[in-house]
Amino acid sequence: MEYHNPVLLKETVDGLNIKPDGIYVDVTFGGGGHSKEILNRLGPNGKLFAFDQDEDALANALPDERFELINENFRFIKRFLRFHNVRQVDGILADLGVSSHQFDVAERGFSTRFDAELDMRMSQKNDLSAFKVVNEYDEANLRRVFFDYGELKNAPAIARTILEYRENEEIRNTEQLKHVLGRFLPAHKSHKILAQMYQAIRIEVNQEMDVLKEFLEQSLEVLAPEGRLSVISYHSLEDRLVKRFMKNGMFEGEPEKDFFGNFTVPFKSIGKLIVPSADEIYHNNRARSAKLRIAEKK
Ligand SMILES: C[S@@+](CC[C@H](N)C(=O)[O-])C[C@H]1O[C@@H](n2cnc3c(N)ncnc32)[C@H](O)[C@@H]1O
Repeated sequence: MEYHNPVLLKETVDGLNIKPDGIYVDVTFGGGGHSKEILNRLGPNGKLFAFDQDEDALANALPDERFELINENFRFIKRFLRFHNVRQVDGILADLGVSSHQFDVAERGFSTRFDAELDMRMSQKNDLSAFKVVNEYDEANLRRVFFDYGELKNAPAIARTILEYRENEEIRNTEQLKHVLGRFLPAHKSHKILAQMYQAIRIEVNQEMDVLKEFLEQSLEVLAPEGRLSVISYHSLEDRLVKRFMKNGMFEGEPEKDFFGNFTVPFKSIGKLIVPSADEIYHNNRARSAKLRIAEKK
């Protein structure tokens, strides 16, 4: 089975405005679709660093001397670039979320399609798993996860129900979780609600919101002036962070004003929000929620 079919391939790499001798970073290597396209556009002196925290992605490493794959979380982008003696780069690409491979391997526990153990760790080194979130979190934290990350209004009832079930038995796998939460899954939209519940647990397990914030802040530090940031997100929580950061260079509040009363912001946005065409979505269903934003460091 194909590891991953890259989304908005041309648009995302176009967004980097590649200079043949430049240094680029693909922080979400996966099956390497975007990385290959970056290498195609680089000259012999160009360089591409890629990150993926999933050991499975290592098997896709590209045999090219201009390429280096780093099996680490991109929340440490600055540290690992420095380790490779790189202080500034010309462009950074992030294609957030989970790969098709991760969804399609039942044991990874990302998909509601299979009856698998609760896992959802993108990195095999991660200590927190879906099992721990569901079986060890207290009621307030469960409520927070389902409310903040699943945007589920009945998060308090969901948390209570999990806690009550846990008094007698652990919740080990998908089928059990579906059974426990069955009354919150009305037949006409059970798939959608279950997907929201899964998304919430996955975001918590992988600390996706904090990781994204740390990454965006560091990307600003490591980008050279006129360096590009090209980010594809797949849900509104991610997109909101990316949008605000590209607009203001911060996640909350308003940026400072200069002497003339203009906001001092670190990025210039390049073009408008890009979404996949109907044709791309037809051929690749995973593209359906993709949103691409591109910015240039001033
Ligand atoms: C949507 S896929 C990327 C697919 C890739 N663009 C391609 O063309 O094959 C996201 C990948 O990023 C990795 N990933 C997600 N969050 C990460 C993080 N915080 N640090 C490192 N890798 C991460 C996942 O393990 C997954 O392999």
